[in-house]
Amino acid sequence: MSSMQVTKANLSVMGTDSNHFPKDNLPEIVFLGRSNVGKSSFINSLTGRNKLAYTSSNPGKTQTLNFYNINDYLYFVDVPGYGYARVSKKQREAFGKMIENYLTTRKKLVLAILLIDFRHQPTEDDCLMYNYLKYYHIKTLIVGTKLDKVGKTLYNRHEKQIKSTLDFSNADLFVKYSSVTNQGKDEVWKIINQIVNEH
Ligand code: GTP
Ligand code: MG
Repeated sequence: MSSMQVTKANLSVMGTDSNHFPKDNLPEIVFLGRSNVGKSSFINSLTGRNKLAYTSSNPGKTQTLNFYNINDYLYFVDVPGYGYARVSKKQREAFGKMIENYLTTRKKLVLAILLIDFRHQPTEDDCLMYNYLKYYHIKTLIVGTKLDKVGKTLYNRHEKQIKSTLDFSNADLFVKYSSVTNQGKDEVWKIINQIVNEH
């Protein structure tokens, strides 16, 4: 199984609420995770487009819901990261509402990909987000990011720690990933294709 050949990847919509969002009914996959975990890099890696989603070492770059049309086949939805201290409380609340509104109202949301830094224990916010997805019965793939920064001999230990901290459900999926080496890319595309084809 290999990755999808992405021939079209366009930022179609940047918006903050429902009346901006696409109306063409394609399946949607949303990317969630704390600020700086590597959401935008992951989107670029999956699509093979290095400059599609704006990445930065300054956290807090993504401030709207960004819908990327992939091959007229589905949308990838990039959202602001959580847990970034230098965003004002008011801004943080606005982001929270925007994401919650998105997660609870989009009929074609087929999968949430929750990114967790593979080097570290999940944060309290990561656990809250995961529980939230469980509460709303949203199918979830956990992606452990920045795999290239972890020694191979530690892979199992880190995966176990992350799963136990999250109280990971075996009904969900887990993939280790590096946006630098693209390790995990075929596996993620395989999961995406399976889920999209079920809908
Ligand atoms: P916000 O938009 O602020 O929420 O951040 P984000 O989650 O979109 O993170 P982004 O993709 O901008 O990446 C943050 C930093 O981590 C950048 O410096 C990336 O180059 C780096 N990074 C992301 N993924 C990887 C990875 O797999 N390996 C390594 N080594 N660095 C990564
Ligand atoms: Mg980003």
